[in-house]
Amino acid sequence: MSKRDLLALEDWPPEQIEALLQLTARIKRGEITGGLEKKVLALIFLTPSPSTRSSFQTAMFLHGGHTLVLERGQEGWTPETELGAVMDGEAGEHLIDAVRVLDRYADALGIRSGPPRTEWAAARQDAVMNYVAQQCEKPVINLESARRHPCQALADALTLQEKLGQVVGKRFVVTWAWHPRALPTAVPVSAALAAARLGMEIVIARPEGYELDPEDTALIRRTAQQAGGEFVHINDDPDDALVGADAVYVGSWGAVKLYGKPAEEAEVRAGLRDWKLTRSRLRSTRGGKGVVLHCLPVRRNVEIDDQVLDGPNSAVVDQAENRLHVQRAVLLELIGETRER
Ligand code: CP
Repeated sequence: MSKRDLLALEDWPPEQIEALLQLTARIKRGEITGGLEKKVLALIFLTPSPSTRSSFQTAMFLHGGHTLVLERGQEGWTPETELGAVMDGEAGEHLIDAVRVLDRYADALGIRSGPPRTEWAAARQDAVMNYVAQQCEKPVINLESARRHPCQALADALTLQEKLGQVVGKRFVVTWAWHPRALPTAVPVSAALAAARLGMEIVIARPEGYELDPEDTALIRRTAQQAGGEFVHINDDPDDALVGADAVYVGSWGAVKLYGKPAEEAEVRAGLRDWKLTRSRLRSTRGGKGVVLHCLPVRRNVEIDDQVLDGPNSAVVDQAENRLHVQRAVLLELIGETRER
């Protein structure tokens, strides 16, 4: 039987995602114990990832398993990632060799590949994630690449279901926020795909120049239509976009056309600091009750004001907790046994 990876939400059929979310709910209620005894999860971080690392380590611990972690820059580990590189520089090991060895030790491997510092045409290939998945005989979990963050998306979907109950037809707004760094598009695209899978109406609000990759936008549109939802529109007005929103997902990403050109991108971004979620903007959501989501870590009073993050609409901590529970379900599904309590 061929192994099963989790590289992108759309790789799994809708019924498998729905079953995974149902398993997650049971895990969260305490109905499932153990199932990962003597199992080893190897985690590779090419860029730092505090929440992902701690939530996966906790997930493995709670079900009796063990985690190995390799992080770029820690313990002298600075791997080369380019295939075919002539390694006469600083890097003492190629990622592919580390991966092949960990594949022998572990039952599954998670990797945060992070965005390469190249132009988007190259970055959008997610080359590192794909060659790691090809090389491993064990399941590979995408812990965030330039294009996708499926574990975050699963937590987003669960949080939307918990907070909104019946989600079909409800309005989900992904709104861009200013950030001092140009971040990848993986989170906003994955969140929009998750909401589209749930049959929600999708609005993507972003300043001109911050369009998502057209293929990703088309996929979000198709996914929403297939799930019976409606792709509402792209909006470049941070006030108008929030009108009638049932959920507001604040995210930040760099201009894909200027990927790999940080100085030029920063110049464009500099004039956009007004793009943040304030209490007055939140008032225009449906009944002023729009649920506020963010993948964390968040830049307080830059992306979202304190009054919003600490107010009654904010679900960001519940959303972060849900990372733990969905990942417990993913691990049980990929390498574990599901046992009733
Ligand atoms: N949300 C998320 O993936 O956070 P980290 O970058 O801290 O893992």
